[in-house]
Amino acid sequence: SDTLGEAAAESGRYFGTAIAGQRLSDSQYTTIANREFTMITAENEMKLDATEPNQGQFNFSRGDQIANWALQNGKQLRGHTLAWHSQQPGWMQNMEGPALRQAMLNHVTQVATHYRGKIHSWDVVNEAFADGGTGARRDSNLQRTGNDWIEAAFRAARAADPGAKLCYNDYNIDNWSWAKTQAAYNLVRDFKQRGVPIDCIGLQSHFNSGSPYPNNYRTTLQSFADLGVDVQITELDIEGSGQQQADTYRRVVEDCLAVSRCTGITVWGVRDSDSWRSQGTPLLFDGNGNKKQAYYSTLDALNAG
Ligand code: G3I
Repeated sequence: SDTLGEAAAESGRYFGTAIAGQRLSDSQYTTIANREFTMITAENEMKLDATEPNQGQFNFSRGDQIANWALQNGKQLRGHTLAWHSQQPGWMQNMEGPALRQAMLNHVTQVATHYRGKIHSWDVVNEAFADGGTGARRDSNLQRTGNDWIEAAFRAARAADPGAKLCYNDYNIDNWSWAKTQAAYNLVRDFKQRGVPIDCIGLQSHFNSGSPYPNNYRTTLQSFADLGVDVQITELDIEGSGQQQADTYRRVVEDCLAVSRCTGITVWGVRDSDSWRSQGTPLLFDGNGNKKQAYYSTLDALNAG
């Protein structure tokens, strides 16, 4: 196949990208996105600050713009994200305790209900574990509402959209030897053991010098899969350039294809100039929309699988 999406589909997988609403008027951008990708994540437009700017007043216009573009072009949608310590609207940042818990659950319910039937997978909870060696939960206003806030969010999401796969999504859970990875693993294991609804783990996989692609990545993917959840690579980007970057993209794809429950890969943007990393060249297309070495190694690896 000669596109990422078609090549991934040959093994039953998807290949996706994050889409930014403000770029949908850029025809070079939409041409590449439409040609290459089969799964779309809204980069910012379904987050809490975008969808509930005032408490109880929901605004789905920006999220709907991306959802409509995706569905009109025959793409599937990942939902990102229902509950997160970051990018909260101002009113939520100032809340604590039972009122915040109730507001969070209402947010999950309302947003998941609005998009019911349209979402392949939801990042129900994003980035709930702390960085570093403790394996602890990240301190946040949501965490301070009680340790069960994550499972409460998952139960609310399941009730609102029973057809969507429900994912826990985080970064720096790629290296099997890191405490944060083990913490996420233990969360998924605990949820599966206790019957808390969870269907997938999202590994963001933002690789850079501080958190490089780990040689044990395949072990991590397989270990999560062995718990009985799908594994999705949800925000892939790889710092670097040239052959080294291309080789790392190839290894990520090979690792996913080696794990039957690794069901898809999403890169976090289309061209280098679209990346959230203000400098650097972490994506598959250069700023002029040309295919990079990393694109060709990714496509080759998908076709080889
Ligand atoms: O749209 C406004 C614009 O009107 C304003 O003038 C400008 C001034 O700063 O800000 C613009 O909003 C920015 C938005 O991106 C759109 O470009 C926000 O400031 C900026 O904070 C926001 O950054 C996003 C970031 O999440 C926020 O946490 C990035 O685009 C987005 O790629 C990034 O994505 C996250 C995932 O959600 C979770 N995992 C990590 C990943 C990378 O940080």
